[in-house]
Amino acid sequence: MRPRLLMGAMVGATLIAGGTLLAQDAPRLRGPEPFTREQPAPAMQRPVTNDLRVRRNYPDQPPVIPHAIEGYALDLNANKCMSCHARRFTEQSQAPMISVTHYQDREGNTLGGLAPRRYACLACHVPQTEARPLVENRFTDMDALTEPERHPGSRSNR
Ligand code: HEC
Ligand code: HEC
Repeated sequence: MRPRLLMGAMVGATLIAGGTLLAQDAPRLRGPEPFTREQPAPAMQRPVTNDLRVRRNYPDQPPVIPHAIEGYALDLNANKCMSCHARRFTEQSQAPMISVTHYQDREGNTLGGLAPRRYACLACHVPQTEARPLVENRFTDMDALTEPERHPGSRSNR
């Protein structure tokens, strides 16, 4: 084969391989209809609101929210989350207190109140739905890696 032809064939093969990979790995975000056709929005997923705290996948994970948050104000004037999760309200609300990291600035200084960088709770804590994941999740719990015998099925007692 002449060099130019060979180059062409190689580029072609790469494109086809790349295309196949994309088709396999990319989640279908747009749905089956072409994006030029207007569709009614799918129904909102129902949030999980069973009040059961969910195990964290690793110690530093922001825990997910196990209760309804619909209509909770979170703006310049009001932070509804803090009306239960602030230290002084936890006795009446029985909510877990925000941990000490929420009182620390980026230099590690502990402040007298909620750190501004922790004000927008929903940037890190999210409610859950029963939606099927768009892509397969291959996350493995640390316990299953370190002590597979003691923790079959990655159950943890830490
Ligand atoms: C009316 C009181 C109340 C309000 C308001 C509230 N929470 Fe909660 N929250 C709770 C209680 C009580 C729990 C303990 C689990 C349960 O009962 O749902 C909890 C649990 C949580 C947890 C799980 C903690 C863990 O360790 O697993 C997170 C995260 C959380 N809330 C975040 C939020 C955020 C973010 C907001 C605002 C959008 C908010 N909460 C507003 C009462 C409240
Ligand atoms: C920048 C990310 C971030 C923001 C913003 C944030 N959190 Fe957290 N939160 C975390 C992480 C990470 C953890 C777990 C590790 C820790 O405690 O620092 C956590 C832990 C918690 C816990 C569990 C505390 C415990 O001791 O079990 C509660 C409750 C909580 N956050 C509530 C809130 C509320 C309410 C807000 C808003 C006022 C908020 N968080 C804002 C990252 C965040």
